[in-house]
Amino acid sequence: MPRVMPIFGTRPEAIKMAPIVIALQESAEFDCIVTVTGQHREMLDQVNELFGIVPDHDLNILQQRQSLSAIMTRTIDGLDKLFTEAKPDAVIVQGDTTTSTAGAIAAFYHGIPVVHVEAGLRSGNLLSPFPEEANRKITSQIASLHLAPTSISKANLLAEGISEDDIVVTGNTVIDALLTTVNKHIPFSDPQLEELAESGRRILLVTTHRRENQGDAMRGVARALARIADAEPELTIVLPVHRNPVVREAVLPAIEGKGNVIVTEPLAYGEFTRMLSLSHVVLTDSGGVQEEAPSLGKPVLVMRDNTERPEAIHAGTVALIGTDEERIVKEVDRLLNEQEHFDAMANAVNPYGDGKAAQRTVAAVAELLGIGKRIDSFN
Ligand code: UD1
Ligand code: UDP
Repeated sequence: MPRVMPIFGTRPEAIKMAPIVIALQESAEFDCIVTVTGQHREMLDQVNELFGIVPDHDLNILQQRQSLSAIMTRTIDGLDKLFTEAKPDAVIVQGDTTTSTAGAIAAFYHGIPVVHVEAGLRSGNLLSPFPEEANRKITSQIASLHLAPTSISKANLLAEGISEDDIVVTGNTVIDALLTTVNKHIPFSDPQLEELAESGRRILLVTTHRRENQGDAMRGVARALARIADAEPELTIVLPVHRNPVVREAVLPAIEGKGNVIVTEPLAYGEFTRMLSLSHVVLTDSGGVQEEAPSLGKPVLVMRDNTERPEAIHAGTVALIGTDEERIVKEVDRLLNEQEHFDAMANAVNPYGDGKAAQRTVAAVAELLGIGKRIDSFN
């Protein structure tokens, strides 16, 4: 039986890999060896716990305020030893984190085929998002099988000379994860959030963490949030704040003491998707949240200057607004107070998937390993 090793290390990889791990484990065709790097800790463990995934190997690499080089070297070093012992026939990496690219490089050095999930996203700017744009391009150079979420990402890969035979359009597994989680009505562990859910108040859900936004840009975001909180007393801002101390130092001072801002620890995925479905507007620099919110019909303001996820912008539910304080205040105000503008953006669309991405992934991996055939692509 072929030995397939999914490797992941951060919260978004765990969420997007979970449907694949579950599908591999349910299949009688594979021996699935789950390996986590532990690039994240609490934020990774809370996802695995929700999906009932118990890693077979944990490199436990996290260091506080870790450098990119430390993530890269500690991951490659750990996998180098593990591959010698576990001898996988293929590895699966997801997306564009440093765990993902380090996993691909380590496997490539061992002659192990790399399956890249969420392949072909491109912003066109090597420095934004940093280092993710470079990470995903590096992985594309060494992967054997490229699982593109959409036809746009497939086109990006073709334009870079990747052979069409090696690309499958699967949809994004984040939609598989969302669909199996969002309707479970998971109770909030923070009583303030349960109270908020019952109050029917309008919610602005905010997340921010991107490296290129840390520092001045993120302090500007926090000042914008403070101004919105003062201007809109009937609104509640919910900010599940990333575990990164650099993010906390930038964001928390400006909003401390605001009665209508709730700052929480990162929400477990089930709680977060419920909060997403209760929200009126979403303000974020997250990749995954940009993909999930449109599926729930929530308008999304993206605090970035570019995106590798143009599909929901084309569909009209996502707007790129950058990180300028004035612009954030203005764009949130428009969505809160101009009904027509809100209605135009609040459409439920599913450009990123149909919930069957994991099934297509497993079939494509089976074909790569010579034990099955691909199924129809996501259209
Ligand atoms: C990483 C990914 C980014 C992804 C993001 C998802 C890279 C280079 N970056 O960025 O692509 O969008 O994850 O959230 O791969 N920390 C904890 N506990 C945790 C998680 C983080 O304490 O569970 C703290 C640590 O101090 C750590 C810091 O956060 O050093 C930053 O974590 P890191 O993984 O380096 O960067 P992220 O910004 O989370
Ligand atoms: N998310 C979560 N709890 C939170 C905030 C986000 O479970 O408190 C989920 C969210 O639903 C999405 C993913 O985390 O699926 C996005 O992760 P993040 O923004 O950290 O990374 P990115 O997607 O930008 O790489």
